[in-house]
Amino acid sequence: MKRLMTSPCAVIAAALTMAAAPAQSADPIKVGMMLPSTGTYARLGNNIKNGFKLYVQEQGGKLGGREIEYVEVDSEANPAKAIDNVNKLIKQHEVDVLLGSVHSGVALAMAKRAKESGTLMIVPNAGADKVTGPMCAPNIFRTSFSNWQPGYATGQAMAEDGHKRAITITWKYGAGEEMVKGFKASFEKAGGKVIDQLYVPFPNVEFQALLTQIAAAKPDAVFAFFAGGGAVKFVKDYAAAGLKDAFPLYGTGFLTDGTLEAQGADAEGVKTALHYADALGTPRDNAFREAYAKAYGDQPDVYAVQAYDAAQLLGIGLAATGGDVHKSAEFSAAVRAATIDSPRGQFTISKSHNPIQNFYLREVKGGVNQVVRIASEALEDPGRGCRMK
Ligand code: BEZ
Repeated sequence: MKRLMTSPCAVIAAALTMAAAPAQSADPIKVGMMLPSTGTYARLGNNIKNGFKLYVQEQGGKLGGREIEYVEVDSEANPAKAIDNVNKLIKQHEVDVLLGSVHSGVALAMAKRAKESGTLMIVPNAGADKVTGPMCAPNIFRTSFSNWQPGYATGQAMAEDGHKRAITITWKYGAGEEMVKGFKASFEKAGGKVIDQLYVPFPNVEFQALLTQIAAAKPDAVFAFFAGGGAVKFVKDYAAAGLKDAFPLYGTGFLTDGTLEAQGADAEGVKTALHYADALGTPRDNAFREAYAKAYGDQPDVYAVQAYDAAQLLGIGLAATGGDVHKSAEFSAAVRAATIDSPRGQFTISKSHNPIQNFYLREVKGGVNQVVRIASEALEDPGRGCRMK
């Protein structure tokens, strides 16, 4: 066997090289997942964790050359507990990356602390417009949507379908209010009129009184935002009240994504706009769906896709910074220059760090969210109020 002779000079040179390497490069990157594992959004949180971990597994457990490790906190989709929960991740667990959340109110609290602490944050669902608006920052990114986007795309689709008088119904919190605002903007721009806006407190699912109001007002169509367990109950109640055939039901895609098994025949014919659909049939999406089903024994949904892409975005940024989460400017430049090869179709990240992406009009047929047409192509959130430093 050949013996290597090591001179004292070579030892010193090696020691200096080691000292010059970034101190953290040998350590794993800690991803703090602040997602709901209880309540109406529990399934959404679960699928986000699955989607993110799937991409990391596909990369051999490493991104940017560093192992990925997880710390999980149940956000409970509760904004009142969000500051305590995010502080636990930042201060107690000293995470390198914040991943969350599902609920817009929780995401706003996370973004506030991410901005103050400089912790890298990736939003894999919550659409709070402000996160990529006035709260935008070089270290905050989103791979899902702004609430304005799917609302706006649904308004365009409903108007194109020839409906003129609409009623909106949603939970009374940021996500519902902002989606209704987006919907109203495009629907009324196209000549429609929103004749009433109905709300239930989050996460209540007592819809009966409002369904009676809708029947009495006789709109051309109804726009709804609900998600998770609430979406299942709303779609079933809408059909049971006899409204489905009288007043076509539209919504942002969360109304029927990841929920169809539980909604059954009551969801047939419901039309929604979203940046993903079940039957895209592209090789990229087919491969993703197959891998997800193999890993988890379940079908993926939009939440899993958004999280898979959050891991892709992290990989792109880390590859450009040599695995350093603190180099925000380099991380941001790499992400903004990239085209993300998502199961939803390729998309890019805007200067306020929100996806620029197609929105599909889908219709539930045979228990599947089938694409009807592209409702809005390369839709970009206006990023109002974003002053990126
Ligand atoms: C939100 O609160 O931003 C949200 C929650 C579920 C689905 C979509 C948006």
